Amino acid sequence: MTEKAILEYDGKKFEFPLVRGSENEVAFDVKTLRAATGGLTTIDPGFKNTGSCLSDITFLNGEKGILRYRGYSIEELAEKADFLEVAYLLIFGDLPNTDQLEKFHADIRKQSVVDDDIKKIIDAFPKSAHPMGVLSSLTSALTAFNPSSVNVNSDEAMYNAIVKILGKFPVLVAWSMRKKQGLPLDYGSSKLGYVENVLKMMFNQPNEDYVQNDIIVNALDKLLILHADHEQNCSTSTVRIVGSSHAGLFASLSAGISALWGPLHGGANQAVLEMLQAIKEDGGDTKKYMAKAKDKNDPFRLMGFGHRVYKNFDPRAKIIKVAADEVLSDLGVNDPILDIAKGLEQEALNDPYFVERKLYPNVDFYSGIIYQAMGIPVEMFTVMFALGRLPGWIAQWKEMRFRKEPIGRPRQIYTGENLRAFVEIEKR
Ligand code: SDX
Repeated sequence: MTEKAILEYDGKKFEFPLVRGSENEVAFDVKTLRAATGGLTTIDPGFKNTGSCLSDITFLNGEKGILRYRGYSIEELAEKADFLEVAYLLIFGDLPNTDQLEKFHADIRKQSVVDDDIKKIIDAFPKSAHPMGVLSSLTSALTAFNPSSVNVNSDEAMYNAIVKILGKFPVLVAWSMRKKQGLPLDYGSSKLGYVENVLKMMFNQPNEDYVQNDIIVNALDKLLILHADHEQNCSTSTVRIVGSSHAGLFASLSAGISALWGPLHGGANQAVLEMLQAIKEDGGDTKKYMAKAKDKNDPFRLMGFGHRVYKNFDPRAKIIKVAADEVLSDLGVNDPILDIAKGLEQEALNDPYFVERKLYPNVDFYSGIIYQAMGIPVEMFTVMFALGRLPGWIAQWKEMRFRKEPIGRPRQIYTGENLRAFVEIEKR
């Protein structure tokens, strides 16, 4: 028996089928709404109540604080898997066996060099350029050097585009940082693991032998896993809607990077560190910032708090908070910012304004503290988020394209002027 929802409108009743997901989420399918009702439209600013697609990739339960990639819990993946394994899982649907993972990594390594002309594009940027703007531009520019990655209408073409971007993106990430530091734009080593290679490209000094720090490698690997996908967030929805016009994968990812840059989204990890730094310089006066966050006349928000879906703890924030203690202790870093963050968290968790609105720490609240301890500059924090989110964006784009979903084109309700005659300029 098809479950249905009934809408009464204009004295008539209209039935719409219900869609029930594998985790018992329920939606009513309004695909026929306008045709059945003679033009009725839904309105939902920010899509707080609107599903854009069916997806097999990531499951969130905001009330229970659950996050799973292809059915595996984020807790298990963060503990037992590595980032490339999770990338494979998100993109192809299952955890790889040893041969599959080795082939995947080998194919990515073959694509881990970018056209040297990319350096001319980077050189055109001022050192003051924010690395997210550089990264978005370079990612789009990759299309010019890899035109075959636009029309991915076969499994083989899709696979080639995927290993290309997974190979080249870490180079662009590292070079966007080194450009600001005036360091040579060079490569790591194809003998290294995926995350080790990223770190070597980022931190290798031209006049020293590079020594890998396993604490940092493991911490970054875990952080990238925790950021790898998050269903239909702002930047992923951007990647999907840009790709729905059949724009290429790299152009769609470039758009997603720009969406992630915003301080309400991925840019929050940088904004959290800047906020905590300001509190520290203000003598640790967290109460002043709590008051600002609650003041409707003050645009200030407590960065790293709140979430569109999680109305309980963000499970990633829980894992990152534990990791922050471990990494700083293992690295011998004593950062007062961590204590300020913990104090702010405790205050917010006991403040009626935050409790009533179910505002908890999100993924961005503690991640910057670890990045800073690892020696990553604050302006690079959101770039690290993009590096982690890359496999999720790819997986979601691939799902949208292979399901041949229609071009994304929302409707609206017009509230402007009614018809009026043109008035010559002499008479205005
Ligand atoms: C990410 O969607 C995803 O999955 C994103 C992400 C991912 O992995 O892709 O999880 C990554 O973007 C995490 C969020 C990072 N952003 C921040 O930390 C910025 C601070 N947080 C907020 O701006 C806000 O909480 C959002 C943007 C995250 C969510 O905004 P919503 O869902 O649109 O909620 P809202 O703005 O309607 O707020 C509801 C109420 C409002 O108060 P009232 O009008 O009801 O009185 O809560 C208040 C807001 O003013 N509020 C905050 C607040 N967040 C919400 N007040 C103070 N400080 C905050 N941080």
